[in-house]
Amino acid sequence: MKKQKPKQFQRPRGTHDILPEAQYYWDKLYSEIRQLSIFYGFGKLDTPHFEDTELFNHSVGDGTDIVEKQMYSFKTRGGDALTLRPEGTASAIRAYIENGMIAQPHPVKLWYAGSFFRHESPQRGRFREFHQWGLETIGEDGPVAEAEMIQMAGAFFQEVGLKDYFVELNSIGCPDCRGHIKSQILAYYRNKTKKLCMNCRKRMKTNYFRLFDCKEEKCVQLRQNAPQILDQICDACRTHFKSLLEFMDEIQFPYTLNPYLVRGLDYYSRSVFEFFVGKPEAELVSQSEGGEKPEEKEKIEKPEELPAKSHFALGGGGRYDGLVEKLGGRPTAAVGIAIGIERVIEIMRQQKVKMKLEQPIKVFLVQLGEMAKRKSLKILEQFRTVGISIRTSLGKNSIKTQFGIALKAGAEFVLIFGQKEALDGEIIVREMSSGIQETVPLSKVVEAVKRRIHK
Ligand code: HAM
Repeated sequence: MKKQKPKQFQRPRGTHDILPEAQYYWDKLYSEIRQLSIFYGFGKLDTPHFEDTELFNHSVGDGTDIVEKQMYSFKTRGGDALTLRPEGTASAIRAYIENGMIAQPHPVKLWYAGSFFRHESPQRGRFREFHQWGLETIGEDGPVAEAEMIQMAGAFFQEVGLKDYFVELNSIGCPDCRGHIKSQILAYYRNKTKKLCMNCRKRMKTNYFRLFDCKEEKCVQLRQNAPQILDQICDACRTHFKSLLEFMDEIQFPYTLNPYLVRGLDYYSRSVFEFFVGKPEAELVSQSEGGEKPEEKEKIEKPEELPAKSHFALGGGGRYDGLVEKLGGRPTAAVGIAIGIERVIEIMRQQKVKMKLEQPIKVFLVQLGEMAKRKSLKILEQFRTVGISIRTSLGKNSIKTQFGIALKAGAEFVLIFGQKEALDGEIIVREMSSGIQETVPLSKVVEAVKRRIHK
């Protein structure tokens, strides 16, 4: 009977394997994330990868794309309705309330990093399982909290070598002015519904802010004369936003105002922001003074040759003063941000950011013969305990092949350990650059290499 070819499996659509050669990026990013989070006084929070589905319906919002179309939701054998986390803020606030963090000195600052899941159409920079670095500051109502996070994001981009990043800012008002904003926007669109795409017609009823970020040409045209949210917000929101812009000037963070930035999650109030690289669609702004309006602010000159604005945001966030209360806590102001790790790596690659490769291999052990092979593992341990990286290719028997691998790995020293050396309790230390070699007692090999490394 003909043997059936075994089925070959592929990773699920929209997911990716992170191969050893890509790990340099991930290690670098996670190391910066950890350092920055600690430096700015954030405590690490790990939450489950799945939560009650209701948590996300309630916080991210029933009418959002995430809840309507993108959640990986399932029923357990016990009948619980659970969802793989599509974002981290809801879980962080759930954990803040559930673990009694209210009793801690405020603001409570939390960070997290890990996998998130959204059933989106995969494309460049858009995955179904992706990774975020998230920050949440709970219990700070001043715009300094937004400014601090934007500064942290900038520091992160800078540390990983990104150029030409900027933040887009908007304010979407608070519960006090939402009614007014809503009535102005709906009044404008009411007699134009037929000119809208089918999705936007639905959004008129469920999520009117999303009318502003529809990509359909006819909807983009229509929004040009729509009332801008920034013109409708109340005085308190306006003061808050102006103060945020002053912080931006103070830290000299490149920003543009995007009156159509509304974000895809329902919990935001007041400030919202997203990060991009490339040529901003609006002029970059800086230097606010006195009581001037954002539109009158001085423009920063940017070279024309910048590539177009990245087609995806590297990160986004905003203020969400109502969420803690909505999830059962006391009324508490909060701000957060999340940065997409895959997207940062994609831009690092596009911008050809030079990565410092893995610690160069200092020592390579070439062995020959059964006895030498057997004793080799012990030699590795001797080097590991003193922190000197050493490589081998113990499965190989040919000296030539092993030397080839050592050369490719860029080893500075090769230890040659053959049958004779194994019997005599010795080993040859060869410096690759000069070709000079010396036979030393096996018991002294670590010191001999150490001496040469530190020469
Ligand atoms: P978000 O804008 O939905 O916000 O996601 C933040 C970032 O995660 C995005 O800017 C992007 O870089 C990355 N991201 C999102 N979806 C994908 C995807 N499908 N593939 C690759 N990367 C993706 C939030 O998640 C909020 N929780 C942020 C926040 C924290 N707001 C307040 N606190």
